[in-house]
Amino acid sequence: MGDIKIDGKRLWNSLMEMAKIGATDKGGVCRLALTDVDKEARDLFVRWCEEAGCKVTIDQMGNIFGRREGKNPDSPPVMTGSHIDSQPTGGKYDGIYGVLSGLEVIRALNDAGVETEAPIEVSAWTNEEGSRFAPAMVASGVFAGVFDLEYGLSRADLDGKTMGEELVRIGYAGEVPMGKPVKAFFETHIEQGPILEDEDKTIGVVTDAQGQRWYECTFTGQEAHAGPTPMTTRRDALVGAARVIEAVNRIGLAHAPLACATVGLVQVYPNSRNTIPGSVFFAVDLRHPDDATLSKMDGELRAAIEEVAAAVKLETALEEIWYSPPVPFDGECVAAVRRAAEANGFAHRNIVSGAGHDACYVSRVAPTSMIFIPCEGGISHNESEEATPEHVAAGCQVLLDAMLERAGS
Ligand code: GLV
Ligand code: MN
Ligand code: MN
Repeated sequence: MGDIKIDGKRLWNSLMEMAKIGATDKGGVCRLALTDVDKEARDLFVRWCEEAGCKVTIDQMGNIFGRREGKNPDSPPVMTGSHIDSQPTGGKYDGIYGVLSGLEVIRALNDAGVETEAPIEVSAWTNEEGSRFAPAMVASGVFAGVFDLEYGLSRADLDGKTMGEELVRIGYAGEVPMGKPVKAFFETHIEQGPILEDEDKTIGVVTDAQGQRWYECTFTGQEAHAGPTPMTTRRDALVGAARVIEAVNRIGLAHAPLACATVGLVQVYPNSRNTIPGSVFFAVDLRHPDDATLSKMDGELRAAIEEVAAAVKLETALEEIWYSPPVPFDGECVAAVRRAAEANGFAHRNIVSGAGHDACYVSRVAPTSMIFIPCEGGISHNESEEATPEHVAAGCQVLLDAMLERAGS
């Protein structure tokens, strides 16, 4: 192991080139799924894959696969990849690092003239973020058979545009049927939390990913005049939402240190300064690595919503739109990552992913694990997201070695 070296500078340059697409003033990117900038970034990735000699295919959810053939074309591929889309205030690494480190693996194998036994594939999964279209990881979910195709294509953004329509519009509604055998899957990603940096570790050997439950809630009260309406008779939907937001935060704190609980999306109607809000739509994101605790948090959320609705005299519509259970990654793939980190002399530790990743769904159909690298201050989903060139290269080298171990050469 360690004979074939990835080119860290080339990977870094590709990351910085890609970061120009959807670049924001504050140094991040805004590349929401299936927008024009997502298309532009996809086009560049496809071009780079083709220049590296890959055969590119696109499936019905717009997932992109760049394939480097192996000695045994009948073998399922050893695959890597992540996502090109970003949060509205996204960074230069979340997702795209996992895509471009896969491309760098292929470029490095080309440079070394190595023929692997199994084919090698790099993938870019549609709408991992779940920001424009909920839920997250929906296209890798369809690939893994967790959702059906119709469900995936009918996911709509807040303006009612569906993923199916937007895939056609940007030219990425592929024809390849969903799902195929995968020999093993690895995903590199920034940690998006503080642990590796705090402990001065270069590589996170990702053993598990925590579970998530996503909800959409609408509170309906009554619009009324902000002046003449007495405080005691109001049915203010925003007051209800505010109390639930506070309760969500308390639920997270009550199950510290591992729980996370967030309200990140709120829409107030009619959003006029002198009208009492008549309805509020908001989204809740609950996470915990232990499924039983996550269920407990679910119960606490439902109780809080009921209590607030009664107190503020609101009608409630609560829908759990997504449940992604905790994921234990494959022991052999996890061990391959650990061996690769050790062989390269990188300080490493086991880690549980706080974020969702396409690897979570791919793990349903293929032995899977992930490789984390530190990010500055643990900050992600933020335009100031940063990682060092050394860590970026280290994660990619571990990826190459782990993939080679599984693919055989
Ligand atoms: C994806 O970024 C997530 O919310 O975990
Ligand atoms: Mn990501
Ligand atoms: Mn993300």
